Amino acid sequence: MKDLPHVSAFKVLRNAGRILKNPLPFHQENFDKLGDTFRISIPGDVQAFFSRSPEVVKQILQKKHRYYSKSKLQTKDLAKYIGKGLLTAEGNHWRTHRKMIQPAFHLKNLKTLLGIMHKAIQEELQRITPNKELDVFELMGDLAFQVVAKSLFSSNDIREPMARLKQITEDNQKMLIREMRQPYFKWWFNGSGKIRNELNKAQAARDILDKLIEERLANDQKSTDLLDMLLESEYEDGSKMPRKQLIDELLILFAAGHETTANALSFTLYFIAKDANLQERLYKEVTSMDAQGFGMEALKQIPLLQSCINEAMRLYPPAYFIDRTALEDNEVAGIQLKKGTVVLLSMYELHRHKDFWDKPDSFIADRFVHMEPKTYAGHYFPFGAGPRMCIGNAFATYEMAMAVMELIKNYTLSTSMDTIEINPMISLKPKAVRLRFTPRKNLSTDA
Ligand code: HEM
Repeated sequence: MKDLPHVSAFKVLRNAGRILKNPLPFHQENFDKLGDTFRISIPGDVQAFFSRSPEVVKQILQKKHRYYSKSKLQTKDLAKYIGKGLLTAEGNHWRTHRKMIQPAFHLKNLKTLLGIMHKAIQEELQRITPNKELDVFELMGDLAFQVVAKSLFSSNDIREPMARLKQITEDNQKMLIREMRQPYFKWWFNGSGKIRNELNKAQAARDILDKLIEERLANDQKSTDLLDMLLESEYEDGSKMPRKQLIDELLILFAAGHETTANALSFTLYFIAKDANLQERLYKEVTSMDAQGFGMEALKQIPLLQSCINEAMRLYPPAYFIDRTALEDNEVAGIQLKKGTVVLLSMYELHRHKDFWDKPDSFIADRFVHMEPKTYAGHYFPFGAGPRMCIGNAFATYEMAMAVMELIKNYTLSTSMDTIEINPMISLKPKAVRLRFTPRKNLSTDA
């Protein structure tokens, strides 16, 4: 069995200030010095195990997934706000609901959602003020939220309740991050009523969803949206999902589906805005597609655009680490792991590992155009792997391609920002991404 290199609790404490701000450089230094897998003692007597090894990732997420559960961060801390839905549930409860919900995300069902998604994207992009720098991260946040909202509630009038729901989701997340990063203030968060206040807001979010479901049930018309698919799904004995469970699942789809997509879109658009030549190539690609609009076949016709999105998620994976806890003592790639060990798989580091990627820190727009998926499947995991892999993978892939296409067709993008700053929270966010959108129509009239 391997004796793993170790980072002491003392070293972690000495670096506490910078870890609080941005933990990624600290992790990178440790990986570069200690190798692809190391142990770390987190003050408070938590033993964690960090890895950027493809073999360890494969074993923990796929081959030996039964020995691991999600960490407390998701199953308890996050679950107290958004309930026990797919992302936060474990064991049989998770398995039963994954089986029930999975069909709603199959390609044949997504096909019926493409029109709804496209309309939602077009509506959100109408908010762009041309020729003026704006924070695209904020815009993409609204866009991704509306796409999930309209895919669920296509027939309801939802703008106002969704604005409130989005605000609550964001407020809850801010509180969760404070609880995570300042655990020593937990007594104060509890005593001062801050957590109670957020839990009350979370209840208000549930009431909003409950009312929308009531409205849907009162209206007999079929909608063929995600909510209809969830309302029709059945347990093995033919019964339907209880209302509370349905609301948990809806809250999870909002939480898991909007911020990740907004992050990936913002990073992608930044890289595109930096390169005028790339934009012209993308413009040619999207304007020479079949004229039938955006169908399921569309992705095959836009390899360069897809490659740009994949490359942005390689450099800045929204789920920049995946966490698990060992359920019992076991062995992974020659390493003995004790029950209760927290495992942190760094996708950020694996996606930039110099053994697997040429010029790992550079954005190379064409990188994925020339590679067969099987050549990178073992070291590229933007959507995770194994049975807990993202259920919204295809949904997000179509949504992102549609949004970028829509922008490229109508605008040229530019930015005055030389670099992009990151903000690693629960997901890997950019700080503001200021872009300017110049309408293409004006360009051709001016010419
Ligand atoms: C670029 C966008 C997205 C990225 C990068 C992403 C990434 C991920 C990753 C890495 C996981 C696995 C986490 C783990 O194993 O611990 C996950 C799970 C999940 N994602 Fe996504 N996601 C995206 C978009 C979406 C969308 C659009 C939806 C829904 C509309 C969604 C719903 C979910 C759900 C429900 C889970 C939990 C699945 C389960 O445990 O059974 N995601 N996502």
